[in-house]
This record gives sequence, structure tokens and C-alpha cells, in this order.
Amino acid sequence: MGTAIRPLGARAGMAQKGDRNGFPSPARGAKETRAQTLTPPLSPPRGARGQDLETPIVFEALNAQPPDSLLGLIKAYNSDGRTGKIDLGVGVYRDAHGNTPVLKAVKAAERILLDTQDTKKYLGPEGDAGFSAGLQPIIFGDAHPLAGRIAALQTPGGTGALRLGAELIRAANADAAVRVGTPTWPNHTPIFAAAGLKIVAHRFADLATQAVDFEAVRQGLASASPGDVVLLHGCCHNPTGVDFSRAQWKEIAETLKARKLIPFVDLAYQGLGDGLEEDARATRLVLETVDEALVAYSCDKNFGLYRDRVGALYVVARDSGETAKVMSNLAALARVAWSMPPDHGAAVVRIILERPDLVAMWREELDVMRARINGNRAALAAADPALAFIRDQRGLFSNLAMTKPQAVALRDRHAIYCADSGRINLAGMQPADAGAIVAALKAEGCL
Ligand SMILES: Cc1ncc(COP(=O)(O)O)c(C=O)c1O
Repeated sequence: MGTAIRPLGARAGMAQKGDRNGFPSPARGAKETRAQTLTPPLSPPRGARGQDLETPIVFEALNAQPPDSLLGLIKAYNSDGRTGKIDLGVGVYRDAHGNTPVLKAVKAAERILLDTQDTKKYLGPEGDAGFSAGLQPIIFGDAHPLAGRIAALQTPGGTGALRLGAELIRAANADAAVRVGTPTWPNHTPIFAAAGLKIVAHRFADLATQAVDFEAVRQGLASASPGDVVLLHGCCHNPTGVDFSRAQWKEIAETLKARKLIPFVDLAYQGLGDGLEEDARATRLVLETVDEALVAYSCDKNFGLYRDRVGALYVVARDSGETAKVMSNLAALARVAWSMPPDHGAAVVRIILERPDLVAMWREELDVMRARINGNRAALAAADPALAFIRDQRGLFSNLAMTKPQAVALRDRHAIYCADSGRINLAGMQPADAGAIVAALKAEGCL
């Protein structure tokens, strides 16, 4: 017989006098101990619906979840034997050789870390405070006006920052809705939903025109209630590459302030669009305008640290008193989620940021990544006038208007891999591939 778990409701007072494993039975009403909780009952209990509780049935209730379609795409690409295959599906930066190498600045910092780290003792839920402080001038500017108003905490990647921010919102105002422009990164909505928040979507961009649908954004914000949260991509929008203009950001910031809406800026690609300073401008403009805000930051792309899971959550509060309260809540929420974040990648970023020579090396490598992405954008735009918009978009991704059968046909007939949604990663191509990509898009009626 298996080790059946005592059913809920089989409390201590119901136990027999002693059991077959020799554990003593408590007196009626005595406090149940852990040992007794794990003790198998003498006869198989039956649940409320009469089922045999010795048969594990809990997981039977689960629905199978669809696999990540991009992982399937990677597998299919790897097993495709055709020469000249092109991978526009992958979600990471690739160099001219198709590799995603460890940055030289990261390698140098890792060597320093290896030589100098003398303990692995716990850091605490805030993680590496030097890391989250070191990033602040890069994100907020050297002389930002937010001193004393920022609660900062290291997180497992940008994903961890988004989830922790969502939990903070839920703790502060469970009725808050999260306003999300679509299309967006497919993980955004599930992250906020998993934290128990309501999501209200509005259209952000129209793939047919490849432009922001600003009227839809205006309406989305106009229908929001005070205290609602507005998710904004700080730069390099994923999946469209379409970003708001400066004038649109200004209007959004003023609307947020006037309507008492809380911006949640997702800044996952700083430096991969127009430059570190340029890519932070929209975030800074919003933060200068509003009283309260959240910023989820990822170092996984701009430092190439993907699997090391390096991110931070910054929460801007009204004054230093509220900032301290926010910080204590963030620490408590992190404690029950992951206790403390993984150290290695954040320590590497901190070491880079502490040393001017490594900062210079990292900036140079970031410049190379950005130049390659924008060079590929220019090559694809030049290959056909109908793709001219790609030159003006920013970041790793653009989203071509196509149907799923068209995306499948690009794969099957032309060995060009992109997401079923039509999202392409510009770092997955070489400039010389532009002609073949355009020919395939035309053959499948995508252009
Ligand atoms: C827009 C956006 N936000 C956040 C993330 C999460 O980044 P991380 O890998 O650091 O969790 C991603 C990752 O692809 C992203 O595209």
C-alpha cells in the first residue's frame, strides 16, 4: 500500500491510539505534530466524493499547457538540414556568425569575481545593493531629481521585476487594473494575471500601418480609473519595434499625472535602440512628471547575461517615508517568492559598473550589437520599399503583418523561421540575407 496523505479534516482527535509505525497518538484535542500529519491512517480514507484518497488525484485536475511555441521553432530550425536557412525566430541577440557570445566585459568581470569573492553567504531579499544602485545613473541619469524616492531591489531578470511589481500593486490596491497596449511581449499579460490583477487591453500599434494607434492609446488611458497601472515599453518595443514619439510620451506622461494613473515601465533593451542615454529618455520624462511609478529593468540583453537572470525593480514613491514602506513591502514579497535573487550575474554587472575600463569595454560591445541590429534593419528596408518602416523601428524585433499559414509557409518552403505572429528578430539575419527574405515574403503574399 502507498503512503496515503491524511485527508483534510482528519484531525488529531480522530487518530487511533498509536499507529503501525509506532508513533504515539495524541490525547484528544492535543496539538497535532508534524510527525502525525505524515502518519498514514489505518484504513484508506475516502474523500467527499467517495474516491479512494490513496490514489493521488490532485494533478489529475490540471490542464496540459501548450509548449512555448518559440522553443518548438528553435528545435525545428536546428533540425532543418537546408543550407541558407535563416533564423528570425530566436529571442536573443546574435552576432555576424550566428552566435550569442559572452561579452568580453562580462568575462573580465567574472575573472575578477572568481579571484576576489571570499564568501557565498546570504545577501538578503534586496540582493546586491551595489548592483541596483550602480545602474541608477544609467537608467535615471547622473543628476536625476528622484533622490530619496527610489526603492530598488535586485530581481531574477526583468521577468522577476515585472512579477514583483505586480505583487506590490496587488498588495497596495487589489482593485487596480493593468492597462496593456497590444500587441505586447506574450509574457506580460500572464505575469499580471498570475498576480491576480485584472488586465484591460487597448490597441498600441496597427501592424497594417506599422504605426502607433495613438487614438486607441488615448481612449485606453481615458477609460482607466485612478490607481490603475499602465504598462509601457521604455524603448525597443517587443514585438513591434514601434516606439512612441517624444510628443506622444509627453502627452502620455501628462495624462498619467492628470488621471492619477501609475506607469509601469518595462525597460528590457536599454542601449540596443539608439544608445544608453537615448533609450532612457522616455522613461526619465515619465518619471519627472508623475508622483509614483515602477520600472522593471533587465540586464539580460544589454549585458548578454540571459541565463544568469539579472534584473532590478525600481519603485518611485512620493516621498522618503513612502519609499521606505515600499522597500519593506518589496523585501517581504521577494522573501516569499524567491527569498533572494541569484547573485552571480548581478555581481558581474556591479563589477563592470564599478570600473571605468570595464564600463568602456561594455559600452563598446553594446555599440557593436546596436550597430549590427540597425545595419540589418537598413539592409532589409533597402531591399524593398514596402519594408522601409523597418529602418525606423528599434530593438531586436519587428512584427510583419502575416497570418500563421504564411509564417508556416516561410518555414516550410523557404527555410525562413519567424514566430507565427510574424515577429522577426533582426539580429537573426545577415545583411546579405535581405534579398532572400524579401523574395520569400513576396512569394507568400506577405508583401
Ligand atoms: C519586453 C520584455 N520585458 C521583459 C523581458 C524579460 O526579460 P528577462 O529575460 O530579463 O526576464 C523580456 C524578455 O524577452 C521582454 O522582451
